[in-house]
Amino acid sequence: MTTTPLPQRRLGATGPQVSALGLGLMGMSPLIYGDSDRAESVATIHAALESGVTLLDTGDFYGMGHNELLLNEALRTASPQARENAVISVKFGAQRGPDGSWVGFDARPAAVKTALAYTLQRLGTDHVDIYRPARLDPNVPVEETVGAIKELVDAGYVRHIGLSEVGADTIRRAAAVAPIADLQIEYALISRSVEREILPVTRELGIGITAYGVLSRGLLSGHMNRETKLAADDFRSHSPRFAGENFNRNLDLVDQLRKVAEAKGATVAQIAIAWVLARGEDIAPVIGARRRERLAESLGALDVSLDEADLAAIEAAVPAEAVAGERYAPDQMAMLDSEK
Ligand SMILES: NC(=O)c1ccc[n+]([C@@H]2O[C@H](COP(=O)([O-])OP(=O)(O)OC[C@H]3O[C@@H](n4cnc5c(N)ncnc54)[C@H](OP(=O)(O)O)[C@@H]3O)[C@@H](O)[C@H]2O)c1
Repeated sequence: MTTTPLPQRRLGATGPQVSALGLGLMGMSPLIYGDSDRAESVATIHAALESGVTLLDTGDFYGMGHNELLLNEALRTASPQARENAVISVKFGAQRGPDGSWVGFDARPAAVKTALAYTLQRLGTDHVDIYRPARLDPNVPVEETVGAIKELVDAGYVRHIGLSEVGADTIRRAAAVAPIADLQIEYALISRSVEREILPVTRELGIGITAYGVLSRGLLSGHMNRETKLAADDFRSHSPRFAGENFNRNLDLVDQLRKVAEAKGATVAQIAIAWVLARGEDIAPVIGARRRERLAESLGALDVSLDEADLAAIEAAVPAEAVAGERYAPDQMAMLDSEK
């Protein structure tokens, strides 16, 4: 099957060119968003590649290796051209026990190299396109972590260095060690803290953004309602924005957004994605579609053009400060260097 070019964005001054929308694979593994279907997950990755999506985001701790093995299967069974075009972004550092519990973070240089060695085996590749610590390790200077990835770049095992959920000072320190392609960070209509200090610094330093949580993990997708019940093993059942009255208040915002979407002939999810796309050419949203149907809907956002009046209407419907609840539970918020 031939691939169709999608609009492209370059990740920073030194990073790779990628499709304007990427696919995030996290929800395709267990212990994240409840059950997922392996065959449909592989079919969704294939459909993404065949539609021209090139950026695929995973993490070694998503299902403790499960997500990388899934990607390996999808790449092995994809067309050679699609496989060739794929830009694979991998996060590392989060430590998990066999029951999936979160037991710490390790971004010491030796851990970086070991983690990559295992990742390459699981992916069945000889390099990773973008390699990034998922969080700042509070016990390891970022210079040491980035220095270790730079050694892996020099040895040909990694093409580009990325960061995730770190703040302005850490970005500057990291960029002083080696070129940084992109920062991965939550960015959505209701998650705009990145705009305060972080975006000005990434723009000054020529670092791109891969935005996640653009649909606020489904909250801004238009597919949830007051009757939606989340399984106990679904990460979102412990997330403040999905809890009790917060959930209802946030769905009130979605109801307002739906009116704007209907007037544009688009879906709620498409408007939420198009809004992030419109925040700058340096931003590539990574969408967590787990099914082909959701992927197709997300890709439709690339056909939605928003003028100033549309942007004002969207921001009036969903004022960022109106969101109820933080983006993570307190213990996970404490791990975000980006929120300090
Ligand atoms: N760096 C970090 O710290 C970090 C953190 C989290 C995620 N990420 C990356 O970012 C990716 C995306 O993040 P995310 O999953 O949190 O956020 P998301 O894209 O905001 O939300 C994805 C969820 O929304 C639901 N959804 C409903 N309609 C959809 C549609 N039209 N298209 C896509 N999804 C729709 C999906 O559930 P259904 O399938 O049930 O519809 C899915 O579970 C992850 O896969 C991961 O690669 C990075």
